[in-house]
Amino acid sequence: MVTLCEPENVHWCNGSKEEAIKLFCMMQASGMCIKLNEKTRPNSYLFRSDPRDVARVESKTYICSQNKDGAGPTNNWAEPRTMRRKLKKLFKGCMHGRTLYVIPFSMGPVGGPISKIGVELTDSPYVVVNMRIIARVGTPVLNALGEEGFFVPCLHSVGCPLEEGMEDKIWPCSPENTHIVHFPEERTIVSYGSGYGGNALLGKKCLALRIASTLARDEGWMAEHMLILGVEEPDGAKTYVTAAFPSACGKTNFAMLTPPKAMNGYTVSCVGDDIAWIKPGKDGRLYAINPEAGFFGVATGTSESTNPNAMASCANNTIFTNVALTDDGDVWWEGMSENTPAHLIDWQGNDWTPKSETPAAHPNSRFTAPASNCPVMDSDWEKPDGVPIRAMIFGGRRMNDIPLVTQAFNWSHGVYLGATIGSEQTAAAEGAIGAVRRDPMAMLPFCGYHMGDYFRHWIKMQRSLCETPLIFNVNWFRKDTDGSYMWPGFSENMRPLLWIVQRATGRAGAKESAIGWMPRHSDIDWRGLDIDKATFDQIMHFDRERILMQTLTHEELFLKLHSHLPKEMIFERELLISRL
Ligand code: OXD
Ligand code: MN
Repeated sequence: MVTLCEPENVHWCNGSKEEAIKLFCMMQASGMCIKLNEKTRPNSYLFRSDPRDVARVESKTYICSQNKDGAGPTNNWAEPRTMRRKLKKLFKGCMHGRTLYVIPFSMGPVGGPISKIGVELTDSPYVVVNMRIIARVGTPVLNALGEEGFFVPCLHSVGCPLEEGMEDKIWPCSPENTHIVHFPEERTIVSYGSGYGGNALLGKKCLALRIASTLARDEGWMAEHMLILGVEEPDGAKTYVTAAFPSACGKTNFAMLTPPKAMNGYTVSCVGDDIAWIKPGKDGRLYAINPEAGFFGVATGTSESTNPNAMASCANNTIFTNVALTDDGDVWWEGMSENTPAHLIDWQGNDWTPKSETPAAHPNSRFTAPASNCPVMDSDWEKPDGVPIRAMIFGGRRMNDIPLVTQAFNWSHGVYLGATIGSEQTAAAEGAIGAVRRDPMAMLPFCGYHMGDYFRHWIKMQRSLCETPLIFNVNWFRKDTDGSYMWPGFSENMRPLLWIVQRATGRAGAKESAIGWMPRHSDIDWRGLDIDKATFDQIMHFDRERILMQTLTHEELFLKLHSHLPKEMIFERELLISRL
């Protein structure tokens, strides 16, 4: 790769604090980042990206399997040899004037039985300091890898060679040439042109979801776009659940939920906020690890009232990207405080006042923060064997139709529920904001192979288990005819969560309905929240005609996947229609 990319230097990252400090100093000196106020935000930095490089780019993300059918109709496919030729041209000399950093990284605790190792080569020091937070990096990983170990090779360049006499940009990138490419059979990743988040931090979406999903299919486990949390009850019983929500549906908020004051004695602890690797244990139950070591959370909307634990997580040792800068050298974003500062520097480096017509922070602005900063991390969050999973939750951002919480009748009905979730669009990915997009298991942008085969893999997993987790569907975002949210959300999500935990452990009542098991008003703990039976019935109501109509849009997805769709999906749909 040195021969191909022609960097000026090569630096092997040892992962130390000293190394990170040196890189930050270098980037500060060249104007790539701003050191924040050491008193209010110790050891933290602000980066501003090129305005053309602010989110994942799904239209430029490719799965280059040998056959088109291997990638399936929901992925962009390109013929692998043609793509390799194209990439070779792009990478030829692309690191002129730059340092190539070698980052050995482990997704999951170093040496753990579920963990995997990757090595990212990158010419972006921003990537190095971010990877150091979201993964375990450096010498201990190389030692665990040894001479013969398996690793996923990952190559990344911002795509801006610095020729003699050229001045560097504060955020080098090459949006017109961006390619994020996965070779699932070879287990390799190549990314060019973008320096942002999931496009560039290759351990996260590229390895831990797209490549890992293909490894998981081949090896009999699951790589899911799921948070993991534990609920501890006053008697000390602890139950772990996972939850899949499409991007920007408040996964980080749910993963770090603070229960309402009136429900004292109950606590929620966080194992992970974005990705779960789930494997059958020797006892025939599923165990999950969080492959990441930090959060790459959406800053906009995060506050002391919506998520105090995320605010504590980014209180120090944090990298901020595309947030606003306050006059005293701290950060601010829309939704962070009730009072808007009178003056800020916006995410593009311009003066900003509350009269400005554009937001101060980009809607997809981010914080990269170490998980160890989070006050509610679970005591077992780094347990190499993972935590036992009793329930799995699917959800989406849906204004209409979908009740607060339902329980699937069985595993295959649960797979159907997961396969048919959808969400109204926000800023985390491209697409028309507000439109519903079907996002099976929240994996649409992240499944490294044919989505029909992925459903089949889910169905098959049950056969390797003695005890399957129960599956649930939730919707925190339902609105009434006036357009107001029907459910308060945030801390109050503890109530349906507790019902889920008690169902999963055989302790809560429910009534049967055409779409699944549902809590009755009397099955939910209402201490400290005034929601009467009539209001609850509205939040739980479903209209048979409207649900029937929705099966038509499920059919749209199923037709696309038809040649690989497991029969169970068709039968579950027929059963649902019959029940309705
Ligand atoms: C994320 C995403 O950033 O899902 O986690 O887009
Ligand atoms: Mn995500």
